[in-house]
Amino acid sequence: MSEAPSASNAKSGSNAAAFDASRPAPRHVAIIMDGNGRWAAGRGMPRVEGHRRGVEALRRTIRAAADIGIKVLTIFSFSSENWSRPAAEVGELMGLLRRFIRNDLAELHKSGVRVRVIGEREGLADDIGRLLIEAEELTKANQGLTLVVAFNYGARQEIARAARRIAEAVAEGRLEAAAITPDTVSSYLDAPDLPDPDLIIRTSGEQRLSNFLLWQSAYSELVFLPVHWPDFDRAALEAAIGEYHGRERRFGGLVAKTGS
Ligand code: IPE
Ligand code: IPE
Ligand code: MG
Repeated sequence: MSEAPSASNAKSGSNAAAFDASRPAPRHVAIIMDGNGRWAAGRGMPRVEGHRRGVEALRRTIRAAADIGIKVLTIFSFSSENWSRPAAEVGELMGLLRRFIRNDLAELHKSGVRVRVIGEREGLADDIGRLLIEAEELTKANQGLTLVVAFNYGARQEIARAARRIAEAVAEGRLEAAAITPDTVSSYLDAPDLPDPDLIIRTSGEQRLSNFLLWQSAYSELVFLPVHWPDFDRAALEAAIGEYHGRERRFGGLVAKTGS
């Protein structure tokens, strides 16, 4: 059974620097919210209890992200591969999404959050599809934090969808095959107008991307925290940003690019 360290000792890596609120926050932070099951198992609870507590961690994180000045927060809430879990757990996760939107959408809207959803809509239950559209429609003019919910999301599937639509555009004569660039591919992804993530955080100690934002993460800084997602809080987010601020982003050049 793995231990669940508290968020206060969630610093990781040798570049960890103290969080400095006077420095610009990373514009786009993406989080792989992992470790719910292990958090629960470590306490002798059913996995679903970890997922429930994970929703509370998500609420805290959305508030903290907006407060810190992050513009875009992407959260990995259900992967294309998570369908392979037992039906009861998949059902619980679907129920939690339903309840999250029903209970929290009004409050998110009031705080100026704009909700976006990436991932495959096809194959989702009709009512979930409707809730996702309702969340996006209600909040589409909001100017605060953009909350991108990666739901039924897999990066390879997203890139394959883009490739399919690019092929259609070429077949219909709307696009020259020879004119396809990386920017063209980006423009066919699920949320083409959003900047790439500056920082990707994964909780639970696992150090992999698990099919998350594979195209967009080309130059993202990766921070892996030992804390399980239900224990994630503002201190853990600030620790990750502190580590991010200690990194040198070079984008292939020789000079560190500053800014956020
Ligand atoms: C993350 O926690 C939530 C989802 C993947 C939906 P997990 O359920 O993966 O928890 P662990 O990794 O098994 O502990
Ligand atoms: C990634 O976590 C997916 C989400 C957080 C929604 P997983 O728990 O599914 O990833 P693996 O299976 O450990 O790689
Ligand atoms: Mg996991």
